[in-house]
Amino acid sequence: MAMAAAAVEVEEGRTGIPSLLRLSAVGEEAIASNVAQLIGWTPLIEMKNIAKKEGIQARLVGKMEAYQPLFSVKDRTALGMVEDAEEKGLITPGVTTLIEPTGGNLGTGLVLVAIQRGYRFIAVMPAGYSLDKQMLLRFLGAEVILTDPAGGFKGMMDKVEELTKVMPNYHCFNQSINPANPDAHFKWTGPEIWKDTAGKVDIFVTAAGTGGTLSGVGRYLKMKNPSINIVCVEPSESAVISGSSIKHGFPQQTEIASEGRGPNLQACILPHLKSSSPSSVPPTAWALPVRKSSGSRRESRRWEHGGSDGRADRRLAPLLPTSAPALSSLAVLGWSGGCPNSFSIPTEEPRKESSSSFWRNRRGGSPGFHKIQGTGPGFIPENLDRSIIDEVVTVSSEESITMARRLAKEEGLLVGISSGANVSACIKIAAREENKGKMIVTMLPSGGERYMNSDLFADVREECANMTF
Ligand SMILES: Cc1ncc(COP(=O)(O)O)c(C=O)c1O
Repeated sequence: MAMAAAAVEVEEGRTGIPSLLRLSAVGEEAIASNVAQLIGWTPLIEMKNIAKKEGIQARLVGKMEAYQPLFSVKDRTALGMVEDAEEKGLITPGVTTLIEPTGGNLGTGLVLVAIQRGYRFIAVMPAGYSLDKQMLLRFLGAEVILTDPAGGFKGMMDKVEELTKVMPNYHCFNQSINPANPDAHFKWTGPEIWKDTAGKVDIFVTAAGTGGTLSGVGRYLKMKNPSINIVCVEPSESAVISGSSIKHGFPQQTEIASEGRGPNLQACILPHLKSSSPSSVPPTAWALPVRKSSGSRRESRRWEHGGSDGRADRRLAPLLPTSAPALSSLAVLGWSGGCPNSFSIPTEEPRKESSSSFWRNRRGGSPGFHKIQGTGPGFIPENLDRSIIDEVVTVSSEESITMARRLAKEEGLLVGISSGANVSACIKIAAREENKGKMIVTMLPSGGERYMNSDLFADVREECANMTF
């Protein structure tokens, strides 16, 4: 009996299926008591066919998150954030309504956990973003509220604010700034990769949405072996991170944020940065040095208060270029309890070049439309730990879609668009002489069936619709 107890002891970072297998190994029932118990642990698979066709001499390894109960990496985030909020006493089953602005995958993960634990769940998403995900959320019983896509994230946040005004017990996890998001990957995804590669991983590559996966896995792997390279992938059409001269640390950061527009909600869009003069920037837009000082994580994110007192112009003046084309459509996004969200732009200090050439010399930097769902939100989320990123690689929507189709046809891997982006980035990295013989591990964040109404399936959709007998 003592032996059985020892054998089923929870091994660090092993949840999901392995926790059941340990039971069957000692002759006990290996039946999951609920679907949330299956969250965690996904298999690694080597993509040998594509590596061979590309003439790559590095090992390409993907982590199949389609093996999660709701087929995406966000099941882990959902469980991690719910468990964290419950431990902190922030939410109570049967009492609290969970409400989250989501593009879809976190939403489906949250529905699963909400069903299991007895929460009402409302997903707020832009209309037309993904019909597949919208249908899935409804199919699973979530309440879905659509916002005008023209309003972007701000429109979603305004809707959340509107709803929460009339809702007594609600909780918004705020995945872009919630530390429980990267913590889930530090606790589970990172150890899984480390163990399942027997510590042989040399390079970890993944696209950032909230940055939760990259930061959590990256921190864990760097802790185990600081020489592992962490590569961030982002859409070339919205190369906000690479546009921020990100490589091996950030000399100094500057944040631009908005004043809050309600007790629990901070949001603004700064289209006015199109203006040619900083003096025309409204006083609600601020630029302040990042304060990494005292106290808890939450405390260190706090802003100095300021606002409509005219000081904003002075603060922005040394930081903004005389003309800021790169920032013309910059959106500053977020929502949180009393903690203004921010957009961070690393700056080089002292900056010798004129401000206009400073921006001209940056690659990318501006948000733009792309099709790699779940990634490239157009701003740098607080949960993206840039201090651990060794390199940023950009990949276009077209490259990503092409690669996702190749993964299906050449490897039999039915995965989504961001998986295509990640593998495309891996191939670019693997082609380098210095990476010969190295093991490159990447995330395959979601299963492909979720994208049947997207461009990923456009060619076969048309073909099948026009088939006759
Ligand atoms: C399909 C897909 N890929 C990648 C990501 C990025 O993950 P993270 O938010 O951890 O950066 C997401 C996030 O929602 C996603 O849905």
